[in-house]
Amino acid sequence: MASVPSLASSVNQRVADALASALPEAGGADPLLRRSDRADFQANGILALAKKAKANPRELAATVVEGIPTGDLIQEIEVSGPGFLNITITDRAIIETLAARAGDDRLGVPLAANPGTTVIDYAQPNVAKEMHVGHLRSAVIGAAMVEILEFTGEKVVRRHHIGDWGTQFGMLIQYLLEHPHELDHKSDEEVSGEEAMSNLNRLYKASRALFDSDEEFKTRARARVVDLQAGDSETLSLWQRFVDESKIYFYSVFDKLDMDIQDPDVVGESGYNDMLVETCKLLEDSGVAVRSNGALCVFFDEYKGQDGNPTPLIVQKSDGGFGYAATDLSAIRDRVGNLGATELIYVVDARQSLHFKMVFETARRAGWLNDEVKAVQLAFGTVLGKDGKPFKTREGETVRLVDLLDEAVERATAVVREKDKDRGLLTEQEIVENGLQVGIGAVKYADLSTSAARDYKFDLDQMVSLTGDTSVYLQYAYARIRSILRNAGDRSPVAHPELELASAERALGLHLDGFGALIEEAAAEHAPHKVAAYLYQLASLFTTFYTECPVVKPEPELVVGENRLFLCELTARTLNKGMALLGIRTPEKL
Ligand code: ARG
Repeated sequence: MASVPSLASSVNQRVADALASALPEAGGADPLLRRSDRADFQANGILALAKKAKANPRELAATVVEGIPTGDLIQEIEVSGPGFLNITITDRAIIETLAARAGDDRLGVPLAANPGTTVIDYAQPNVAKEMHVGHLRSAVIGAAMVEILEFTGEKVVRRHHIGDWGTQFGMLIQYLLEHPHELDHKSDEEVSGEEAMSNLNRLYKASRALFDSDEEFKTRARARVVDLQAGDSETLSLWQRFVDESKIYFYSVFDKLDMDIQDPDVVGESGYNDMLVETCKLLEDSGVAVRSNGALCVFFDEYKGQDGNPTPLIVQKSDGGFGYAATDLSAIRDRVGNLGATELIYVVDARQSLHFKMVFETARRAGWLNDEVKAVQLAFGTVLGKDGKPFKTREGETVRLVDLLDEAVERATAVVREKDKDRGLLTEQEIVENGLQVGIGAVKYADLSTSAARDYKFDLDQMVSLTGDTSVYLQYAYARIRSILRNAGDRSPVAHPELELASAERALGLHLDGFGALIEEAAAEHAPHKVAAYLYQLASLFTTFYTECPVVKPEPELVVGENRLFLCELTARTLNKGMALLGIRTPEKL
C-alpha cells in the first residue's frame, strides 16, 4: 500500500512554497488550486492575499511564478487576469503519477491521517411492517457511507435500529396467545421473506379487527403491553417470534438489494431497554430534564409549537412509559460509552429532523456528546412518484419496496436482452444475472446520484436508460473497457511516460488522478452523490477518449496503443472501485 500524492496536491505545494518566499507573511496560506478549463489548474488565492498585504496582485503573482521550477511536474505557468495563475502539467508527470496509482491496490488513495470510530445508524425497518422506499433510501445511502468511510481507514460500526418495541405489540402478542398456531412453520420447510411478511400482515389485520370491535380483547391487549414492559417471559417469547418472523422478511429484502446485513449489527429499539431508567435518572439528576405534568421533559428556547408554547422532548411519559427519544438517548450513551464512537451518523428521513436536533442537543447538555464526539443526521428527502407527489400506489397505499425492486429487475433484464439481441454476446443465464445487477444498480444509483437531502422522482424508465446519468451507462462503460482489455490479451498494460498525450488522454488522466481527493471529500461531507458524479464524469471522459484516441494501432505506433490500454485499465479499476463503494456491481460482460 503506497499512497500516491495527487498532481493537484504536488502543484499546490509548489505554489504554496513559492508564495511563502514571495510574501513571507502569507506563509502557509492556501493558493486555492482548482481544476480549470483554460489550463489544467488555476490558483485563485493570490488575489486576496495581495490585497491583505497591500501588494499589487499581478506583481505578486509574477514573483510567485518566478519562484516555481518548471519542466518535471509543471509544463507551463502564467499569470492571467487580475492575478490568477494558470498551470499546465507535463504529460510525463501525468502518466508517471497514474502508473504509481496503477501499482497500488488502493489506486494510491491515501488513508485518513486521524481515523476515528464512526457508528452509522441505517437500514432500520420496523417489525411486523412492510418495508417502503424510505427504508430503501436509508439502506442504500447508509451502506455507501459505510464503504466510503471504511475505504479511508475509518473504523465503522453498523447499527440497524429496527423498530421492535412499543405499545402496538400488546395487540399482536395477545392475538397470537389466543391463536397459538398462527405463526407456526412446518419444520421441513423454509419460509420465504414474502411468506413471512404475509403471515405478519394477516396477523396484524386480524388482531387490529379484534382490537377495534371487541372491548374485552382491547383490555387484554393493553394489559399485555404492561406484561411486555415488565419483562414477563411468556410475553417476551411471543414478542421474539414477531421479531424473528420480521427478520426473515428484512433479510430477504436486503438480499434482493444485494446488501450484506449482519445479525449482530441489528440492535433495535428494544436493545436499549436496560438503559432507559438510568438514562432518565441521569437527565433528571443533572437538571437537563424536568418533570412537567408528570412527564420527564427537556425544553428548548428555539422549538415552539403553533400556540407559541415550547415543544419539549418527552423522555418519559406521565404513565411511566418510555418512547423513541429515551431509546435514542440511551443508544447515544451506548455508542459513545461502550462502542467508543468519535462520530455518530444517522441516515434517517428528513421528516425526523426535529427529533434528532432535540435528541442531539439533549445529549450535549448531558455531556454525552461534545466537541470530540459529534452526531449528525444524514437526512434524506422524500421519494416522489412521477406526478411529483409522495410515492403511493393508485389506491393511495404505500408502495411495497419488494414490488419496486422486482419491477426494476424485470425492466433491466428487458434492456439487457434487447441490447444483446444483435450481438449475441450473452448466454441466457448471463442475461438474467446482468438483469439483476443492472436493475438493483439502477435503483441504488438513482438514489445516490442526487444529494441525499433532495427529494427525487422514482422513474424506472429513466433509471434503466442507457444514456444519461444512470448506473447502466456506467456499467456499459466498464464492460466495454473489460472487453477491450480481454481482446488485448488480458495482461497489465505498460505505461509510457515518454509519450506526448492527446487532449482527451490528458483530460481522462487528470480526472483519474483526482480519485483520492474525491474520496476524502465524499467521506468528510457524507456525500456519496459526489462519488456518483465523479464516476459519471469519468465514464463521459472515457467515451470521448475512446472516440478520439484509437486504442489499438498498428506498428509503428504500438506504444501509443499500449499507453492507451494502460489508461483503459486504470479507468476500469477506478470505475469498479467507485461503483463498489456505492454498492453497485459491474458485470464483466454486458
Ligand atoms: N425505524 C425508524 C423508521 O422506520 C427509523 C429509525 C431511525 N433511527 C433511530 N436511531 N431513530 O422511521
